[in-house]
Amino acid sequence: MKTKKISPSLLSADFSNIQKDIIMLEEGGAQLLHIDVMDGHFVPNITFGPFIVKAIKRAAHTPLDVHLMIENPGDYVDKFIDAGADYLTIHMESTPHVHRVLQKIKSRGVKAGISLNPHTPISMLENILPDIDLILIMSVNPGFGGQSFIPNTIDKLKRLNLFLKNHNAEHIEIEVDGGVKLENIKMISDAGCDIVVSGSGIFNTDTPKETLQKMIEVLK
Ligand code: DX5
Ligand code: ZN
Repeated sequence: MKTKKISPSLLSADFSNIQKDIIMLEEGGAQLLHIDVMDGHFVPNITFGPFIVKAIKRAAHTPLDVHLMIENPGDYVDKFIDAGADYLTIHMESTPHVHRVLQKIKSRGVKAGISLNPHTPISMLENILPDIDLILIMSVNPGFGGQSFIPNTIDKLKRLNLFLKNHNAEHIEIEVDGGVKLENIKMISDAGCDIVVSGSGIFNTDTPKETLQKMIEVLK
C-alpha cells in the first residue's frame, strides 16, 4: 500500500538560511524534500550542483527527492548519490540512454525516478517499468517555480494509473510537480498522485508551515 507524501520544493526556500526553512518543513511534517537541479541547458535556468545537495543533506533529517533537469544525467548521477540523494529522478527527454542511467541509479541502491515533460506521452514508459520506482509527471514546463498548473495533467494522471494497472506496475509511485497549491491539491491527489511537490504554493503564503500542515491533512 502506497502512502501519500508531500515533497516541498526548496526552489522557493530562502537559500541565505536554508537550515531555517528545512527545520520549518520538517516540523510541519514534510515526508521528503524536493531539490531542483537545473543546468541552463536542459532548462533555461541554473540552480546548483552536488555540493549544495551535500550541504542540504547535512541540515536535513528527511529523505532527499532530487530532480535532475540536466543534460547528460548519466555523467552526474554518481555525484548526486554521493551527495545524499535518496530518490534520484532524471528526465526522459534529457538523454538517449534512459535505461542505462536508471540502471546505474538502481545499482547504487537509490530509488530511481523518470520524469515526463508535459508533452511527453505515457507510452514512452512502456519498456522501462521494471527499472523505476517513481514517475514524476511535470504539471508545468520545467525551469521555474511559480507557474500555473497545466489542467490536462489531471487526465494524464488518470491515464497513467490505468496504464500502470494494465502493466501490473501499481507499486511505482506517481509524483506531480508544478503549480500545486492548497486549492488544487485534493483534485491532484484524487486523480491518482502519491507524492505531491509544492514550492511557491507553500513558501509564498503568509504562514508556510500551516499551509504545509493543511496540505498534509488533505492528503490523509
Ligand atoms: C520546476 C520545478 C519544480 C518547482 C515547482 O521546474 O521542477 O519543482 O520548484 O515550483 P512550484 O510549486 O512553485 O510550481
Ligand atoms: Zn522539481
